[in-house]
Amino acid sequence: SQLEMFVDELPDMPRIHGFDVVNGVPKPKQLRIGMFKKEWKFHRDLPPTPVFAYGVSKNNATVPGPTIEAIHIVDTYVTWENHLPLKHILPWDPTIPTAIPATKKGIPTVVHLHGSIGEPESDGHAESWFTNGFVEKGPTWTKKTYHYHNFQQPGNLWYHDHAMGLTRVNLLAGLVGAYIIRHPEVEAPLGLPYGDEFDRILMVFDRSFSINGSIYMNSTGNNPSIHPQWQPEYFGDAIIVNGKAWPRMTVRRRKYRFRIINASNARFFRFFFTNGLGFIHVAADSVYLEEPVVTNETLLAPSEVADVVVDFSTSKSDTVILANSANYPFPDGDPVNEANKKVMKFIVKKDLEVDPWRVPKKLIKYPFPKLSSASQTRYIAMYEYTSDIDEPTHLYINGKAYEEPVTETPKEGTTEVWNVINLTEDNHPLHIHLGLFVVMDQTELINIDEFKACMSKLNDAIKCQMDKYARGKKLEVQAHEKGWKNVYKMTPGYVTKIAVRFGYIHSNASYAFDATADPGYVYHCHILDHEDNVMMRPLKIIR
Ligand code: C2O
Ligand code: CU
Repeated sequence: SQLEMFVDELPDMPRIHGFDVVNGVPKPKQLRIGMFKKEWKFHRDLPPTPVFAYGVSKNNATVPGPTIEAIHIVDTYVTWENHLPLKHILPWDPTIPTAIPATKKGIPTVVHLHGSIGEPESDGHAESWFTNGFVEKGPTWTKKTYHYHNFQQPGNLWYHDHAMGLTRVNLLAGLVGAYIIRHPEVEAPLGLPYGDEFDRILMVFDRSFSINGSIYMNSTGNNPSIHPQWQPEYFGDAIIVNGKAWPRMTVRRRKYRFRIINASNARFFRFFFTNGLGFIHVAADSVYLEEPVVTNETLLAPSEVADVVVDFSTSKSDTVILANSANYPFPDGDPVNEANKKVMKFIVKKDLEVDPWRVPKKLIKYPFPKLSSASQTRYIAMYEYTSDIDEPTHLYINGKAYEEPVTETPKEGTTEVWNVINLTEDNHPLHIHLGLFVVMDQTELINIDEFKACMSKLNDAIKCQMDKYARGKKLEVQAHEKGWKNVYKMTPGYVTKIAVRFGYIHSNASYAFDATADPGYVYHCHILDHEDNVMMRPLKIIR
């Protein structure tokens, strides 16, 4: 039976400051955030669900976890503590490369700050995992307390688990949370909606539940003789926003800022408002746009962020539904079903006061990379491998397993051109740790079967003359996606050219690298089921 929609109020997750204020001046702060097993109510009529949740204590732990608000250039230190039990609440698969402690006891976790430009020891590398009490640790584990320098420009980050081969189940269990870097001197003059009431995170994901309330995840997989549990994409029946299924929010007839984060494993959302309200984009994953861009719909792949202002004073009705029209898998899967079509409801109240917020004509300009100064051109090919029953067995980047020696070794502070060649049928959101990038263009591959045949033999885009094939249709990069990104949708059958900057985009400052031991970084597809098996490769920065 279907849960009734729009009966729970949209929660705001607890907000934690990543700084102290001493005599009016923000100072560094040390936080302790734990991961706890507890029960969470996803819906009024659903029994409590066992989850893994982040919080400063078990009582305060939430799904998603607390929103950490940091300040530009003020250090935040976080000791991430694993208080999880010995056994997982979800099925996982030992036939894919997975962090398994030597004792086979305990749940490996490691926290990645998605979108951060920071030192590798605090990046949450997939092999830097640890279990409860740091009893077991992964091969690249270096320290207990992570140091976030917050040196980068104001923007929308989020933190989530990243343990090797367990990312999809650890996130499904609830290990996600938002992290905002603010830069008050630069942002306050913009006049955008601000404060607990008007500046809100919307963290959206899909989940299925059993009738007893527990999270349902297929435990036999699509290809059980090869992978007893792994399946190529997890899709859930219910749409959850800030930890409630199809919630509702009462708003005034004025402007609100929503930082919408797609924290799903595999579901893309194409958001739109049922009464035609628009989205005024002010930033993307990483930083502000140069000027606001208005759209009627917003397509977000897993891990992408839309930072938008919605002006409810222009709403033509007193209630409006935030809806979704994206096929799953995207783009050629099933059309979205009735339940997944709806996300949440807004109830628009009369407002007697004047709206104090505005959207300025100009936001913040960050210079674009000069392609002429790019230090390196790389070719990154995405492949899917199938079994004789035509089910995917695994996905690789450049035909290489994760453990094969690192091949991407950019030099610190340089810009590179990456040609990402998607030879699969699905759209893959490519995410690069440390690297912020600008999408240059997307070109369709003609005679793709011929090119694929060559690639499967030689595995070399230059020898296979990619340029001879990359001559088809061009896809327009949408105006609101033309700024700096840390993840982007790689269209199937296309070459997507991106200019990636390894380090800060705004200054010549070197990023914070006090590496005593350098585990390096990774880049990967952010469909978590792909990332885990193993559409991920190491990334090593040369200094
Ligand atoms: Cu959001 Cu490597 O992850
Ligand atoms: Cu993928």
